[in-house]
Amino acid sequence: MPGVSRFCVWANVHGTFASLSHPEEKVDASWQRVREQIVLAEKLGFDSTLIAQHTMNPLGEDLDQLDAWTAAAAAAALTEKIEIIAAIKPSIIHPTVLAKQALGIEEISRGRFAINVVNAWWKPDLERSGIGMLPHEQRYAYGTEWLKVVSQLMQGERTSLRGDFFNVDDFVLRPARSWRNRPRIYMGGESEPARALAAQEADVLFLNGQPEENAITLIADLRRRVRPVALAPIRFGMAAFVIAAASDADAEDILHWQWQLDAEDKARAGNMIDRFLEQTDQHSVMWQNLRDRPHIGPNGGTAAGLVGSYDTVAERIVRWNQLGIETFMLAFQPFEKGMEIFAQEVLPRVRHLETKR
Ligand SMILES: Cc1cc2nc3c(=O)[nH]c(=O)nc-3n(C[C@H](O)[C@H](O)[C@H](O)COP(=O)(O)O)c2cc1C
Repeated sequence: MPGVSRFCVWANVHGTFASLSHPEEKVDASWQRVREQIVLAEKLGFDSTLIAQHTMNPLGEDLDQLDAWTAAAAAAALTEKIEIIAAIKPSIIHPTVLAKQALGIEEISRGRFAINVVNAWWKPDLERSGIGMLPHEQRYAYGTEWLKVVSQLMQGERTSLRGDFFNVDDFVLRPARSWRNRPRIYMGGESEPARALAAQEADVLFLNGQPEENAITLIADLRRRVRPVALAPIRFGMAAFVIAAASDADAEDILHWQWQLDAEDKARAGNMIDRFLEQTDQHSVMWQNLRDRPHIGPNGGTAAGLVGSYDTVAERIVRWNQLGIETFMLAFQPFEKGMEIFAQEVLPRVRHLETKR
């Protein structure tokens, strides 16, 4: 059974997670904005914040994109309670160095740090930097070896691995385990190798926002898989874009308007959308699923169905929680105002419904 719902927000490192032309939210990926957003999230009672990782901004190369790991270290120093999750594409950094950085932020945050392993879908970041992007299957073979090294080192284990990609010889990191066994490991991905890797190494699998029937199948598949005895049963998170308003009709109106803004963005960007499709690894299963489910917001966004009155959204969250989703990775537009409305109106309703279970 999943625990009570945990509420998390994306850190706004892209500048926006929905429309580029929302009249109440300018595209702003400055540290000043993200810093205030994370501090506000903690004050409002959110459990966690996720800092996505891209080097160039996939929404437009000339848009600002904050670096995930420097932002994570700074956020860790500024906060007291909130969990800080930083995403990482394995190919951009050697696992011994990444594990060292993770343990560093674990120290700064006093045991509140987590990594989100993402095996990449956007080609320009890896190809045009010269880092290179392996084909999907090989990318996961690499990611599997990489995460094995990272996980062992984060646990303070003396690590040796002679594999296809790495040659680590009796390597060990200190300090480690000062706060707990190791930083938490999240993973995003829906493909077969992503599921296999999550079953082997991850504590939490992040799903995209998606219809219930798909999520039920995916969760059941993961729960059937063999897991190392040392790991607790896998837990699940889901990305969702929230539109919560006084009534269902008001929320539907806002959604309709967001679709209009989306269409205007696309019209303004000309063939940018086609270019974006060309720039994506079409073998990424998560990407294929996203393309087939029209939505507003990051990673499936409104496909998670959290659009409606405060009561409706709270009821849907409780329903998702019963289906196995514990961590809700939320986005809003305008972001900070959406966080405040959620904390004031939706969160208490969820907690109330949970007491009745
Ligand atoms: C909540 C969530 C956050 C994600 N964050 C990132 C990210 O920061 N950077 C990235 O390249 N991919 C991110 N992804 C996407 C995937 O983890 C991954 O890059 C890829 O699409 C895996 O595809 P697969 O289904 O083929 O395994 C995220 C996915 C989810 C569900």
